[in-house]
Amino acid sequence: MLDFDREYIWHPYTSITNPLPVYAVESALGCRIRLQDGTELIDGMSSWWAVIHGYNHPVLTRALQEQAVKLSHVMFGGLTHEPAIDLARLLVDLTPEGLNRVFFCDSGSVAVEVAMKMALQYQQALGRPGKNRFLTIRSGYHGDTFHAMSVCDPVTGMHHIFSGTLPEYFFADRPEIGFHDPWDEDDISSFESLIEKNYQRLAAVILEPIVQGAGGMRFYHPEYLRRVRSLCDRYDVLLIADEIATGFGRSGRLFACEHAAISPDIICLGKALTAGYMTLAAVLATEEVGRGISGGEPGVFMHGPTFMANPLACRVAIESIGLLLASDWHKTVADLERRLADGLSPCKEMKHVRDVRTLGAIGVVELEHPVVMERIQAAFVRRGVWVRPFGRLVYLMPPYCIDEADVTQLTSALVDVVAEEGTK
Ligand SMILES: Cc1ncc(COP(=O)(O)O)c(C=O)c1O
Repeated sequence: MLDFDREYIWHPYTSITNPLPVYAVESALGCRIRLQDGTELIDGMSSWWAVIHGYNHPVLTRALQEQAVKLSHVMFGGLTHEPAIDLARLLVDLTPEGLNRVFFCDSGSVAVEVAMKMALQYQQALGRPGKNRFLTIRSGYHGDTFHAMSVCDPVTGMHHIFSGTLPEYFFADRPEIGFHDPWDEDDISSFESLIEKNYQRLAAVILEPIVQGAGGMRFYHPEYLRRVRSLCDRYDVLLIADEIATGFGRSGRLFACEHAAISPDIICLGKALTAGYMTLAAVLATEEVGRGISGGEPGVFMHGPTFMANPLACRVAIESIGLLLASDWHKTVADLERRLADGLSPCKEMKHVRDVRTLGAIGVVELEHPVVMERIQAAFVRRGVWVRPFGRLVYLMPPYCIDEADVTQLTSALVDVVAEEGTK
């Protein structure tokens, strides 16, 4: 079986002729991933931010089964259904104030494309076609499709591979002041001067609020985000918040924008939206953006994917949000933050570790040098945990339902493996 996989299947960011090893999964339940050879791994990744309630949650699995026998899918052009309506109602209620026009799409990257298209169509509709560029911050990550790539960090992203094809946008210096550090005005100066100089060409600013995920696993100061919001207002530029990774409690707030008490003009949601059951994303815009687009040429928003608002995904999303809201998730995530911080603290003493940081249910150990993926992956599996580092970053973001003993096993394994890395 693995031979076929190795011979024929592309995995994320791997070579087809010289792929890294993969581990075959037989099943997964709660916080455990069971491999084909019977090995059980404690999940430290939530399958890239998504699986917040653990695998095969009985409520979600039942909802999926019930929905499947009723309506698995139907085109969204000219038709609608209860799962989409109920989910949209929930999202309008829960997301920051003013976001009340909902567009469902397939994945995080597509949501970013949709949000950027909304901003462009809005500016065009208002008779400002010259406002067709984007401003973002370095160390960001927004996905792998073309416009999403164009606003990923220009160094760690894929700009050098696709230069000449990717549109070129504006990049402010990344925020340096950490979430818990004292605010310093200098931090916003690069962003401020770029928006001031270029606002007549800018459709929107796009960024990940508070947590920069795959671009560096960094947590920045809420004042930075507040200042971005007020500068966007001052210069009449839309603000797109990419909450695909941070949405649904991961940073300690339901949405990371809440740390700064701001509302964006457009928000992108995905990943944990369906608790990792299947792919679905949502883009919510303000009334102003929705009406603006609809008031210009061609008078409609030009996007409509085949699997838009898939009823199975919408139903699971409704149930997942229900589970989250019915739980004491604030406390759960705060407890996880404390346990991750305590558990990872021995790494602070290690010479080859640059930084250890935690926010919400995210714990990060940043090394001085990149890890050797094949070696470190095997070391984690040997210790019975699933942790997938990238570059210099070894990090944990477990499902919220993980118990204390499993968190301890995750953090101890991470400390051991990082210590071992220091001897290589
Ligand atoms: C902040 C952010 N935006 C967008 C994406 C892209 O989402 P997807 O992988 O579902 O296309 C990701 C995925 O990691 C992300 O973290």
